[in-house]
Amino acid sequence: MSRLRVAVVGAGRIGSVHAATVTGHPRAVLACVADPVEESARSLGESLGVPWTTDVEAALTGDADAVLVCSPTALHGPHTQTAVAAGKHVLMEKPIALDLAAADACLAAVGANAARVMIGFNRRFSPEALQIRERLDAGVIGPVEQVTIISRDPAPPSDAYLQGSGGLFKDMTIHDFDMARFLVGDIAAVHATGQRTSDIADAHDGAVVTLTAVSGAVVVIINSRHCAAGYDQRMEIFGRDGSIEQTNQRATSLRVHTGSATEAADAYLPFFLERYARAYATELDTFLGNIARGVPQSPSLADGRAALVLADAAAESIRTGGTVRVEAGTREPNGGGDR
Ligand SMILES: NC(=O)c1ccc[n+]([C@@H]2O[C@H](COP(=O)([O-])OP(=O)(O)OC[C@H]3O[C@@H](n4cnc5c(N)ncnc54)[C@H](O)[C@@H]3O)[C@@H](O)[C@H]2O)c1
Repeated sequence: MSRLRVAVVGAGRIGSVHAATVTGHPRAVLACVADPVEESARSLGESLGVPWTTDVEAALTGDADAVLVCSPTALHGPHTQTAVAAGKHVLMEKPIALDLAAADACLAAVGANAARVMIGFNRRFSPEALQIRERLDAGVIGPVEQVTIISRDPAPPSDAYLQGSGGLFKDMTIHDFDMARFLVGDIAAVHATGQRTSDIADAHDGAVVTLTAVSGAVVVIINSRHCAAGYDQRMEIFGRDGSIEQTNQRATSLRVHTGSATEAADAYLPFFLERYARAYATELDTFLGNIARGVPQSPSLADGRAALVLADAAAESIRTGGTVRVEAGTREPNGGGDR
């Protein structure tokens, strides 16, 4: 079988991760990396030994079979539309857009070709998330009643990044909104409390969000843009017949006991590049496998839109101080649908 040619558009943090993953994939060839900033395109292209260009349009419409859209958030929709119109399959980074109008414009433009687009909710592809989903499907803990998702970054991104990010809920919590839907299905109501503990270039650097699912399950999301102990990624899923815990990961599982400390463990994995390395690899493998098998991509653009609806609802909850009801989609609680 011939290898799929993949172009990476946007040679920043996540574009570099995806580009490296493509070069290591047995059924893909990295056709080119593109970034309007010549230094970024050149250094990534040269480091991987692949063609690079500052002509983003050419990369989106050129001879690649698939495009990984890793540009700043405001460009996800336009870049995806251009690539899909040129017949490409697209892995679009999260979030789908900065606002619902732009998300809907993208959905309308790609129309029936939406099935060619996967949205980069990589956490669904982490080994732990896949194993949790399997156990939920097998009924190991019975119906899910409560979920806690803790997601804290070690340190905030740059002000320049934050200013184009859409804010905490659309940039960071968006992963947790999607994880909530992955675990408990559609959400019916959102209540949020925002925090601002630093002079970060964003309205909030922390938040606690409570989601009530259509199934009746309640999900609590706890976020912070900073965490002295490192990248803090934990979950607990509590069901009628038991619970499942996802703990933080470390470089080793060693525990060191001395006269001054016991149970001393390595630091958490530093950040998303390390913590979700396997998730990015499985995400890409699934994307390429779906193309080869001719099946619709999932998570879908509709999943991207649903998470954005929750982000908007969280912001509205903070503005109004109340609980915001959201229209339930069509996805069945606790699985069955998109993955
Ligand atoms: N799924 C994840 O785990 C994950 C992690 C990080 C970022 N992201 C998402 O990926 C996107 C990029 O984030 P990042 O952290 O890599 O940002 P970044 O600032 O490190 O990189 C963005 C890159 O896009 C380039 N760019 C600017 N204008 C462009 C254009 N017109 N065409 C193509 N490229 C252009 C910039 O020069 C830069 O190199 C964001 O939307 C972010 O939400 C996802």
